[in-house]
Amino acid sequence: MDAQNRGRPRGGGTPSEITLSCFLLILIIGVCCVHALEMSTGKVPFLEAVNGSTVLIPCTYASCIGIKDLYFKWEFNDNGTMQKVADSVIPMDNVEPSKVNVYRERVEYVGSSKRNNISFLLWNVTFEDAGVYTCFGKNPKEKDKNHSAIFTLYVVEELRVVDNTLTIIIASCVGGFIAFLMAFMLLKNFTLFVLAKLEEKNKECLVTSSGIDNTENGLSGSKTTPKKA
Ligand SMILES: *[C@@H]1O[C@H](CO)[C@@H](O)[C@H](O)[C@H]1NC(C)=O
Ligand SMILES: *[C@@H]1O[C@H](CO)[C@@H](O)[C@H](O)[C@H]1NC(C)=O
Ligand SMILES: *[C@@H]1O[C@H](CO)[C@@H](O)[C@H](O)[C@H]1NC(C)=O
Ligand SMILES: *[C@@H]1O[C@H](CO)[C@@H](O)[C@H](O)[C@H]1NC(C)=O
Ligand SMILES: *[C@@H]1O[C@H](CO)[C@@H](O)[C@H](O)[C@H]1NC(C)=O
Repeated sequence: MDAQNRGRPRGGGTPSEITLSCFLLILIIGVCCVHALEMSTGKVPFLEAVNGSTVLIPCTYASCIGIKDLYFKWEFNDNGTMQKVADSVIPMDNVEPSKVNVYRERVEYVGSSKRNNISFLLWNVTFEDAGVYTCFGKNPKEKDKNHSAIFTLYVVEELRVVDNTLTIIIASCVGGFIAFLMAFMLLKNFTLFVLAKLEEKNKECLVTSSGIDNTENGLSGSKTTPKKA
């Protein structure tokens, strides 16, 4: 009975349900078609590298309709003129390109079609390598629409330590404050101690006599016990 009752509206399809289904379907198709192919150079699309080091210039692609003969290309923007770095064609998902053309020195393709990865390594970077790299993709499955993402490489002589000065300033401020606090506490304690001593002097006789009495009793008591044992 329950199953029948549940089944009926689905099979019949009330107008509101049909509208909802259509809306969902359009939404899903819309999302897929808008982002048929996406190129990404990561969440942090820039890198600062020391000259002479080797860096990874990353790029990945994603496509929810699948790829066929995906053409990809890496370009380097040299004063406004785009220089080809590398390009190739990935026949389909999970199939490595038969050959990756490399047009620049010290470039090594390290991508993997299994991981949708079309990154490359740039060996022994020079100051001339600094600039904007464009990762470009074109999937014939979607009317050769162009997609791209950019990655910026900065080349420096040595890695800057920007935050250090601020850290030192904060540390010295905190340290100074703690030192001041300790000095203040010590001074306060010392003052109280001196005041207490001065006050003590007035009752000196009473305090000292009772104190000596107590210790003598204690000492004699403890001395006698070992002798007995
Ligand atoms: C980086 O550049 C500086 C300045 O040109 C140079 O002195 C240094 O040797 C270079 N480092 C490397 C690893 O090439
Ligand atoms: C790029 O521009 C700079 C300054 O504008 C110039 O010194 C350099 O030679 C140019 N490089 C190329 C490859 O044209
Ligand atoms: C990078 O530099 C090292 C040391 O100078 C050299 O042995 C190596 O062949 C260079 N690699 C490339 C790809 O140029
Ligand atoms: C792409 O492949 C390279 C080399 O295997 C790897 O270092 C890098 O982490 C990969 N990037 C992504 C986003 O998977
Ligand atoms: C797509 O890229 C190709 C090759 O770089 C270029 O000729 C074409 O104008 C681009 N089309 C669009 C719509 O950007």
